[in-house]
Amino acid sequence: MESVTLNIDGKPIEAASGTTLLVAARANGIEIPTHCNDENLRPYGGCRLCMVEIVRGDRKRLVAACLYEVEQGLVVQTRNSRIDRIRKMIIELTWPNMREYAEEYGAEGDRFGNENTDCALCGKCVRFCMESQLGDIVYFKGRGIHRDIDLTPGRDFDYDVYMKCMSFCPGGRLMNKIVKLWEE
Ligand code: FES
Repeated sequence: MESVTLNIDGKPIEAASGTTLLVAARANGIEIPTHCNDENLRPYGGCRLCMVEIVRGDRKRLVAACLYEVEQGLVVQTRNSRIDRIRKMIIELTWPNMREYAEEYGAEGDRFGNENTDCALCGKCVRFCMESQLGDIVYFKGRGIHRDIDLTPGRDFDYDVYMKCMSFCPGGRLMNKIVKLWEE
């Protein structure tokens, strides 16, 4: 496979074409925080915690490292004050889902009065169910600030199948609904 050379945080790195910035960075000992990424699932780019800055000429752009692929000559910064500010805000907006990163980015907890405290819309449950052929038993509903995860109406309830999907949920968002269904 063809390989490219790029620069991440001042370090020259060689990586196979098609590799994501996240994988290339981690393979070279450079850590980038993630939340919705899971090596067992296709990348989705939902949480944006892995944002890094790419530089082309005098243009800078933020991209999700878990989705963006390496390019010949690309210059990447995984941390600076802009990136840190964004990560801090993401952590606070989705509090407490990513609190393991709070100290590192100076996040101060739930500053935005977030009601959706147990779901960061990482979509791991939706992707896992679909990719492992368990079906569309959970889904994203609504758009923008109304976006949410819910159990797909009208599906046959199989406790074991639902539990398998939920085993991928870092927040436990749908657990109460599943328990309710089980009790019905
Ligand atoms: S880890 Fe990349 S967008 Fe969530």
